[in-house]
Amino acid sequence: MFDVEAYMGAHRSRIEKELDRYLPPAATRPAVLHEAMRYSVFAGGKRLRPILCVATCEAVGGSAEPAWLPAAALELMHTYTLIHDDLPAMDNDVLRRGKPTCHVVFGEANAILAGDALLTLAFEWMARSLPPPPYQPGHYVLELAEAAGSLGVIGGQVEDLAAEGQPPTAELVEHIHQRKTAALIRASIRIGAAAGRATEEEFNALTLYGGDIGLAYQITDDILDATATTESLGKTAGKDQARRKCTWVEVFGLEASWQKAHALADRAIEALKPLHRKGEALKSLAHFLVNRES
Ligand code: IPE
Ligand code: IPE
Ligand code: MG
Ligand code: MG
Ligand code: MG
Repeated sequence: MFDVEAYMGAHRSRIEKELDRYLPPAATRPAVLHEAMRYSVFAGGKRLRPILCVATCEAVGGSAEPAWLPAAALELMHTYTLIHDDLPAMDNDVLRRGKPTCHVVFGEANAILAGDALLTLAFEWMARSLPPPPYQPGHYVLELAEAAGSLGVIGGQVEDLAAEGQPPTAELVEHIHQRKTAALIRASIRIGAAAGRATEEEFNALTLYGGDIGLAYQITDDILDATATTESLGKTAGKDQARRKCTWVEVFGLEASWQKAHALADRAIEALKPLHRKGEALKSLAHFLVNRES
C-alpha cells in the first residue's frame, strides 16, 4: 500500500529546505519584516498545496525537480492568505499553526506588510520558474494571479466576511468555498501538471481532480472547526459558529458535509483514470485530505 504519510513527510522536508534557501534571512533589513515572514512560513503547516503541485508534476512527468520552486511559491501565497485571514479586521484569530498569529507577535501593521511581502515574493518565485514548452514564460504567474485575485481567493474572502451573520445558503457557501480555497488548490495542481508536461487529456483530468479536492478540503476544514479541538488543529476551534460564518456545516449539517467531502474525493479519484497507475499518490492524497484530523 502507498504510504501517504511517508510521502508527505519527505516532500514536506524538501519544500521546507527550498523555502529556507530562498527566503531572505531573518536579519535582513528590515529585520522585523523578514522575521515576521519567516515566523509565519515556518510556524508549521501541512504544506498541502506545494505537495499537491509536486505530486502532480511527478505523476505526469516522472520527476519532481521542475516543480520545487513553483511549489514553494504556492506556500508563500497560502501563508500570506493565512496571515491576512487572521487579522482583527478579518477572522480575528490569535492562534495559527499552533503559535500566536503574526499580528499578535509583530503587530498589525507588520503582519499586513509581511503578508504583502509574501504575496509579492510568491509572484517573484513563480516568474523565476520557467515552465516547459509549449507553455509561455508567464504561464505559472497567470495561473497564480487568476486563482489568487478578485475572482479567486480575495473575492472569496470578501464574500466570506460579508456573509457573517447572514442566512447561509447552499449557493453562497459553494461560491465562497470555490473561491477562497478551491481556486488555489486547483491552481497548485494545474501548475504541477504544466511543470510535468501533462498531455491535454491529463491536464483536463487534473483540473477536475483539483477542483473537487479543493472544495472537499474547505468542507473538511468546516467540519474540523465544528468537531476537532484547538489543540489538534493548532487554531481556535469553534470559531465559525461563534462568528456566524457561512460554512458547509451550517448549511447542510455535519453528516451531509462529511458525505459531500467524501463524494468529492471519490469523484476526484475517478477523474484520475487517464493517468492509470501514475495517479497512485494523488489518489492517496485525496483520501488523506478528507480523512485528516487537523
Ligand atoms: C487553512 O489551510 C485554511 C484553508 C484554506 C482551509 P490549511 O489547513 O492547509 O493550513 P496549514 O497550511 O496546514 O496551516
Ligand atoms: C480560509 O478559510 C481561507 C483562506 C483563504 C485563508 P478559513 O477562515 O476557514 O480558514 P481557517 O479556518 O482560519 O484556517
Ligand atoms: Mg476566514
Ligand atoms: Mg479563518
Ligand atoms: Mg476554517
